[in-house]
Amino acid sequence: MEVVIAPDAAAASQVVADVIARVVRSRTAPVLGLATGSSPLGAYSLLIDAHRRGELSAAHASAVLLDEYVGLPIDHPEAYRAFIRRQLVDGIDLPASRLFSPDVNADDLLDACHRYDRLLTELGGVDVQLLGIGADGHIGFNEPGSSLASRTRLKTLTRATREDNARFFDDRQEDVPRHVVTQGLGTVLEARHLLLIACGAAKATPIAEAVEGPVSAMCPASVLQLHPHATVVIDEDAATGLRLAGYYREAYEHKPTWQEL
Ligand code: F6R
Repeated sequence: MEVVIAPDAAAASQVVADVIARVVRSRTAPVLGLATGSSPLGAYSLLIDAHRRGELSAAHASAVLLDEYVGLPIDHPEAYRAFIRRQLVDGIDLPASRLFSPDVNADDLLDACHRYDRLLTELGGVDVQLLGIGADGHIGFNEPGSSLASRTRLKTLTRATREDNARFFDDRQEDVPRHVVTQGLGTVLEARHLLLIACGAAKATPIAEAVEGPVSAMCPASVLQLHPHATVVIDEDAATGLRLAGYYREAYEHKPTWQEL
């Protein structure tokens, strides 16, 4: 795992946007794994800026969502499909028909989950999976206790996660869906590159547990330690709980120029 400590959230977003742009430019049919929530928004807006300047085209790319709420009306603005269209897809030239998300309105939800896992394989796998991290260490909506081998499935959000996400629902926790469909931890691990972004003091504890704690279902993000190519991009505030922060800074500063993130 590589840990990049950027001076602030803007610099962290730039690092993440640069990695995604490189994947889009270098592959003939790139598959981007997209996260929602607030952490990736800075990177998404930098990608939109690059597209508007004529420096980035995603016309040949596909995108897959990590997760989706169950039970929201299909046109609800906080449904993750609508969110990601607003925050990224509609601002670049990625075809809307190439944006994939779990079919949470299927009559047979279990089958829809299996189909989603199969779809990721049929697309050739995810080239880079962007991730945020929850206060309880969740990635996607794999809450603590999630199997490290889990596949796409229905999960129940914890009360704490619903409280955190109430900010997207006019602070009405009762409006935050209780259920979601999320890629499992085993599914996430199949992406070729995992790229997690976390900024701010509230992320310091989950980041310390994920990066330097034991690999455990109690901190689902710790599963990144099992991946051969995982990059954790954080700002100084999110780095305060890391024992090896000095080492990560030194390694990044002296990174050989031929070695990409
Ligand atoms: C979103 C997702 C979640 C968020 C996490 C952090 O698709 O899967 O794991 O990444 O809840 O959310 P923010 O970035 O809003 O702090």
